[in-house]
Amino acid sequence: MNIFSIESSCDETAVAVVRDGRVMLSDCISSQVDIHKIYGGVVPEIASRKHIEAIYPLADQALATAGVTRADIDAVAVTYAPGLIGAVLVGVNFAKAAAFALGKPLIPVHHIRGHIAANYLSHPELEPPFLCLVVSGGHTMLVDVADYTKMTILGGTRDDAAGECFDKIARVLGMPYPGGAALDRMSQGGDPTKYPLPRAKVDGNPLDLSFSGLKTAAINLIHNANQKDEPVDIPSLCAAVSEAVSSALVSRTELALRQTGRKTLAVAGGVAANSRIRAQVTELAQRMGVRLCLPELRYCGDNAAMIGAQGYYEFLAGNVADMTLNAYATKSLVGESL
Ligand code: KG4
Ligand code: ZN
Repeated sequence: MNIFSIESSCDETAVAVVRDGRVMLSDCISSQVDIHKIYGGVVPEIASRKHIEAIYPLADQALATAGVTRADIDAVAVTYAPGLIGAVLVGVNFAKAAAFALGKPLIPVHHIRGHIAANYLSHPELEPPFLCLVVSGGHTMLVDVADYTKMTILGGTRDDAAGECFDKIARVLGMPYPGGAALDRMSQGGDPTKYPLPRAKVDGNPLDLSFSGLKTAAINLIHNANQKDEPVDIPSLCAAVSEAVSSALVSRTELALRQTGRKTLAVAGGVAANSRIRAQVTELAQRMGVRLCLPELRYCGDNAAMIGAQGYYEFLAGNVADMTLNAYATKSLVGESL
């Protein structure tokens, strides 16, 4: 089954063709990062306009790269939530028009479910159940993936996502948006113990996290040093931030593995590209004797292939929308939890 899939929830316009949820035939991305860089973050109105400009030629490119024609498409999948509303609506309306014109089913996909499904592309043998650590620019959560479309959020951040924490600290250090990857590169060779940074503990659910205190502490440290004209050892500060984020994620992941008894751990989302997090979850998986699935770097950040992968399983579960599908308007399709 060939699924034509669309992702436009933030600042990447993406169109892909995916076969049977596992084989990427094409995965085309038009990134807007260079435009939003100027403002230090995503400007929603600009994002929506750029999606409209990019999506039509990208769709043609995705079909051509896959070596298929419109007649070979069996269904259309699209990210319907969450995201910037104007941005999501561009993809949803394009997908609706495409599905209607082709006379094929329209499949709504939750963006986070898509990130999780990126692992099906990188690990063709991976099947639920498994535990997934989801770490992106907007979300940080531990998800129990009982089945392809049955997922429970076990815990998550109470405030900032891990990616938000990396990006805002990177911005104060003068790194261009989105600074997570630059901060990761800068941290290589730094001393993670040089700057003591807080590890937040939250009341209630032991699997919950908080990153806003870490973000504020790191930013205050930089501002205080600047005011006193003192130098900051930037590699060491970046290493300390990465270590604080990673250790918080790894300790919750270890607890969730013990609680659920799952024998497979997957990681998903843009922050899954982080070198320290990858190294530390690898060490955790070895220590606990669980199998680890990390997406290839190309499938960590936003892409449409992951939407096509999850779309296949949503289709098999009967989660097909009618042409009244609107962004955010189909919560019942994804169940209570995710
Ligand atoms: O999943 P994603 O592409 O978008 C959302 O759904 O939010 O994640 C983007 C996030 C950004 O915050 C970006 O800085 C971060 O992923 N990121 C990284 C790295 N590469 C991307 N954060 C830390 N280390 C990296 N190597
Ligand atoms: Zn994402």
